[in-house]
Amino acid sequence: MVPWRASEDGLVTARVLDWYERFARGRPGAIVVEATGIRDVPSGPLLRIGHERFVPGLSQLVERVREASDGHTRLFIQLIDFLSIRRRPTREKFLTQFLTITDAHRAALSCCDEGEIRARLLALDDVALRQVLSERECEALDHGARERVTDLHAPAIRDLPQVLPGLFADAALRAQQAGFDGVELHYAHAYTMASFLSARNDRDDGYGGTVQGRVRLPLEVFRAVRARVNGSFVVGARFLSDEIIASGSSVSDASFFAASFAREGFDFLSLSRGGKFEDAKQPKVGTAAYPYTGESGWECMPTIFADSRGPFSRNADAAAQIRAHVRGLGFATPVVVAGGIASLAQAEALLENGTADVVAAARQSLADPDWFLKLQRGRGEDVRRCAFTNYCEGLDQMHKPVTCKLWDRVELDAPGIDIHDGRRMTAPAWPRKEDSDV
Ligand SMILES: Cc1cc2nc3c(=O)[nH]c(=O)nc-3n(C[C@H](O)[C@H](O)[C@H](O)COP(=O)(O)O)c2cc1C
Ligand code: SF4
Repeated sequence: MVPWRASEDGLVTARVLDWYERFARGRPGAIVVEATGIRDVPSGPLLRIGHERFVPGLSQLVERVREASDGHTRLFIQLIDFLSIRRRPTREKFLTQFLTITDAHRAALSCCDEGEIRARLLALDDVALRQVLSERECEALDHGARERVTDLHAPAIRDLPQVLPGLFADAALRAQQAGFDGVELHYAHAYTMASFLSARNDRDDGYGGTVQGRVRLPLEVFRAVRARVNGSFVVGARFLSDEIIASGSSVSDASFFAASFAREGFDFLSLSRGGKFEDAKQPKVGTAAYPYTGESGWECMPTIFADSRGPFSRNADAAAQIRAHVRGLGFATPVVVAGGIASLAQAEALLENGTADVVAAARQSLADPDWFLKLQRGRGEDVRRCAFTNYCEGLDQMHKPVTCKLWDRVELDAPGIDIHDGRRMTAPAWPRKEDSDV
């Protein structure tokens, strides 16, 4: 879960250490550290692992988690690559600066001078303008320009299959050097690798089109990673059980990918769903599209508001089908399910009925980082239950430090509390007297 606590350069900060220490004190079986960028390029306060200079900070993070959990919690880091997305521009800025003038514009306006074309486009009304602009240019105007894995005309995009295996492998080696138990390859949501798996990927260079073509790069990335790290280092992937977008991948595509990953030797298969740019809401001018605002986003991080079914276990049916497919082929690869899981009864049922082998929880763990310990100690009545209203996701969308509304204004006057914007940055401790009287 990205908490927006790294430095602007992507380095581990004191707040990153405090954040993971707080989760580790609740002793979950495993923590997957937030999506961490594998390239050595600036990307704001997103944690990064794209160069050796990130390793010392990440080693500190590993140590803090080991200490705080008494070595109980296994620690993985999620490795992500993403393509560029620009903020939605003003109409004027788009037409005078961002738009690349092409022969299509020249022909439509019967004019060759670039300055003159821009001036004429600016003077057109909206309907006339959209007759001159291509679909992609209209999208860049309305939502901000977004790179796609299918932009084969762009050399950097065309060459992704040559570049990404090495970048992921280098990042995984750094994770191993920092002391992590393994990596989770981020093949989910709106990012590069998920876009290769997507049914919308129609690349014609052998890395798109059929399910075999779409899974090719994810398999090549895994092979490169596996070859770079030692045999006991865990390498799993998170991918989508369903993209939840028109013409997107379905559960049957995901079952094919899961079987391919299991056959290849992935150590775990972690299933999310949705979270795509394709159906994201139009961002305000000056902000970027956020892939958790449309129906696919709602399915990824479901709230109590949307429909009568509620937020709970919405990924379970798909996960059960995918796991059954993998087991049917004779593979024992553990399957992880997430999405609206927030109670012991729910988690136990998912394990007992064969939906998954491991249950993961993001928001419930944020709401109460001690919930694992409380359940283990028979103190279920003390668990602070997530309200599933997505205040935390709203902060994530604005790239503000993520906190939970159930605890971020509590005991602000307690000594030694780290406060930012009037909010405490980590959950209050589970009171010692309750902790010790069990
Ligand atoms: C603030 C926030 C940050 C998230 N960051 C990540 C991330 O870095 N990587 C990822 O795969 N999913 C991320 N997610 C999605 C969660 O992992 C999870 O799939 C989703 O919230 C549904 O599970 P839940 O109901 O247990 O929260 C994030 C969710 C939230 C609320
Ligand atoms: S802010 Fe709301 S949705 Fe997020 S963890 Fe807290 S209670 Fe749950």
